[in-house]
Amino acid sequence: MRRISGVFAAAGRIELVGTHKPYRHRFASCHYPSKRALHRWTLILIPGGCRYQIPSLRSVLDNMKKLLVLPGDHIGVEVIDQTLRVVDWLRTHADLEVDVTTDIIGGASWDRHGTFVTDTVVEKCRVADAILFGAEGGPKWDEIKARGGPKMLSGLRQLRKDLDLFANLRPVKPFDALDDASSLKPEVVRGVDLVVVRELTSGIYYGQPRGIETRDDGSRRGIDTQSYTDAEIERIVRFGFELAMSRRKHLTSVDKANVLRSSVLWRDVVTEVAPDFPQVTLNHLYVDNATMQLVRDPKQFDVIVTDNLFGDILSDGAAMITGSLGMLPSASLGPVDSSGHRPALFEPVHGSAPDIAGQGIANPIAAMLSLAMALRLALERPDLADRVESAIAGALNTGLRTADIAADPSKATSTTEMADAVLAKLALTS
Ligand code: NAI
Ligand code: MG
Repeated sequence: MRRISGVFAAAGRIELVGTHKPYRHRFASCHYPSKRALHRWTLILIPGGCRYQIPSLRSVLDNMKKLLVLPGDHIGVEVIDQTLRVVDWLRTHADLEVDVTTDIIGGASWDRHGTFVTDTVVEKCRVADAILFGAEGGPKWDEIKARGGPKMLSGLRQLRKDLDLFANLRPVKPFDALDDASSLKPEVVRGVDLVVVRELTSGIYYGQPRGIETRDDGSRRGIDTQSYTDAEIERIVRFGFELAMSRRKHLTSVDKANVLRSSVLWRDVVTEVAPDFPQVTLNHLYVDNATMQLVRDPKQFDVIVTDNLFGDILSDGAAMITGSLGMLPSASLGPVDSSGHRPALFEPVHGSAPDIAGQGIANPIAAMLSLAMALRLALERPDLADRVESAIAGALNTGLRTADIAADPSKATSTTEMADAVLAKLALTS
């Protein structure tokens, strides 16, 4: 038996050096183990054969955090390509040990498999520590989704359902350099640091009955159902309280309890849970007032917890505090299972922006900030999350702006140039 003197990893391939003849092995799927992890393998050759210890290789990969990358469609692919450059940099220069695999979802999956997400991808998502998602959809496929039916659910909606990703977090924390990019006044925007926690797996987006019916007189009626159980409300509300405990200990619950019965139950449950978190200051706002307060004085908020519909609308409104949808990251988290594993999907809040796709002008920062959230919340590297965020701040401080945040669009920088600047600043962080 003899040890191998070196192992080199490249895209989808490992190469063992120090044998009589170089031995190459192709992975069935694309794994990119970090160099440092490879050095820890005990690879043994038996004379006359080319056997190496698969179990040790397997166990290294098993012990590494798994990052599944689903770029999706249009600018989803463009911004994730640039974000993967950051991942590669962190693996090479900052000891990020992560097993990265990529797969398709959304329109790309529909075109190849006739479904927006395959069972195989759902299974990969189940075992991943973090899923980094770009954006999916576009005119070519939106009509197919609109037809409805279980196979027509978008990949993302299917994942939210299958992985029970009930807690959607959208932090809104504008960069100082972008004070002037917001449509709100700089003094209103400066210092905002809030998180919208949106319930993601129930409410009117999933309630039954739903549909469009034609009545006897030929007129049509559209129906959606807003429905929440007390258990569904309690788990998202507890999540909101726990998050508030880790921040400034202020929670705002948003509902429409003056009109909707489901909101009356929502408010009841929030009030029942509150005594378990005596250090958290709680207030309730009706959603119409909350919308107004968010643009009047966003600094009053720390954590906002709300249902699926109100959260969708409020968080897109909150996005404008940062200046652009292209700046806003998000995390969607599921329940922790008995082994301590929690499904976690990270994605920019924006969609696939077919209007600007292929031009190389999309802002990659929301996707990069989503990676930072993954590093902090799922990959156990909050130190690297801090570095990525300060590198982005550094790049913005140099004055570089993609078109969506540029005061003068004719001087706007490209997606790749923005990523180049972030990578250059990353090298200066420690
Ligand atoms: P969108 O977020 O894709 O675009 C809205 C506007 O913001 C567009 O003018 C777009 O050019 C701009 N924009 C978005 N992201 C940007 C970025 N990173 N840099 C610069 N500008 C950016 O929303 P829209 O137009 O309503 O939807 C387009 C497609 O995306 C649809 O097919 C929709 O179904 C899908 N979509 C997917 C989502 C997801 O995958 N999570 C979320 C929202 C929409
Ligand atoms: Mg939305």
